[in-house]
Amino acid sequence: SSNESAAGIAHVYRGTFVHATYHTAVEILEDGLLGVDTEGKIAFIGSGKEVDRLSQKWGFEAFAVTQLGQHEFFMPGMVDTHIHASQYSYAGTALDMPLLQWLNMYTFPVEACYKDLEFARNVYTHIVKRTLRNGTTTACYFATIHTDASLLLGQIANDFGQRALVGKVSKKETLPVVTPRFAPSCSATLLGHLGEIAQNNDLHIQSHISETKEEVNLVKELFPDYDSYTDVYHRHNLLTDKTVMAHGCHLTDGELKLFRETGASIAHCPNSNISLCSGMLDVRRVLNHKVKLGLGTDVAGGYSPSMLDAVRRTLDTSKALTIQDTQYHTLTFEEVFRLATLGGSQALSLDENTGNFEVGKDFDALRVNTDAAGGPIDLINHGEGPKVYVAGKRVVPFVERP
Ligand code: GUN
Ligand code: FE
Repeated sequence: SSNESAAGIAHVYRGTFVHATYHTAVEILEDGLLGVDTEGKIAFIGSGKEVDRLSQKWGFEAFAVTQLGQHEFFMPGMVDTHIHASQYSYAGTALDMPLLQWLNMYTFPVEACYKDLEFARNVYTHIVKRTLRNGTTTACYFATIHTDASLLLGQIANDFGQRALVGKVSKKETLPVVTPRFAPSCSATLLGHLGEIAQNNDLHIQSHISETKEEVNLVKELFPDYDSYTDVYHRHNLLTDKTVMAHGCHLTDGELKLFRETGASIAHCPNSNISLCSGMLDVRRVLNHKVKLGLGTDVAGGYSPSMLDAVRRTLDTSKALTIQDTQYHTLTFEEVFRLATLGGSQALSLDENTGNFEVGKDFDALRVNTDAAGGPIDLINHGEGPKVYVAGKRVVPFVERP
């Protein structure tokens, strides 16, 4: 039937809803009423005071409404716009050497192990479960060059109910991402072919850009005929409105302009940027250029798989920039909340489906109980904590471990 209410209401929740909108960094709906249909989509959102009218309109019984407790609220699931699933086993190693050295010492040798599917299954299962427990309902993953293992990551994310974009993979609800590692590891011919594949199939694209000064200089040497690092990707059709580029610490205004014009976005990975001494991304400058931006954990350049850590590090970096320049327009925690949710889904071009509580989007949500273990701080480390819903379906309990 084409009658929208015929889809049926599967769940109705009443209580506090906290989310970002396109106009407001944080909107708080007290005594809200939200209905989820049988496909996991938000059917309606209104006031709890309208429960009688809405139950008539949507055909649910008022007694079937789930009432949140006084200390509970729903927030959107968080979006990790850049994470290497294949690097989880050595998180914590990227603390005492620069990027290019760390890649040679840890990343390239360990990533070679993913030709072994059982090795891959073990790490990929752990990272998907862990990020879900930490409240990441959407993740944009780098896998490795191994097709079978990359398909397996897509399968595991799918089985656990995580919305995933996976580099090197195409299967079922898991979206494939064209994934050149970074310009230094690619020839112009390879970049050209990848751009063509992405264009012909309307695919997501992800890579790294301008993470360290050393890398920027290397790209200048390797691609002398291009105007900039960004131009290397742009001239191979790899900058589109479905492109997300990690880091971007050292981009020029001209390069940011090209991001804006093409609709490409940036994954801000503050833990990684500081751990590897790569640089401090000036997020305010990126936002002033009206370039889309989300947050990424960048495991294992970043040592934490938790998006709450990415939120804290984003604030830290913004405050460090403020210490250097007292005139700096520091990011507010409300703005960073938006970046971790709606901003991330915009950066991944998934905001038609997720990122906040709008009718028609999937109900990807965290149910937070600030009284779970004596207050919000304890909650983060020990509490029973929020429960994760993806498209209306309960997934796993949320606990952030340090
Ligand atoms: N640049 C190219 N590959 C990588 C990687 O694996 N991690 C980080 N942080 N930067 C990269
Ligand atoms: Fe990365």
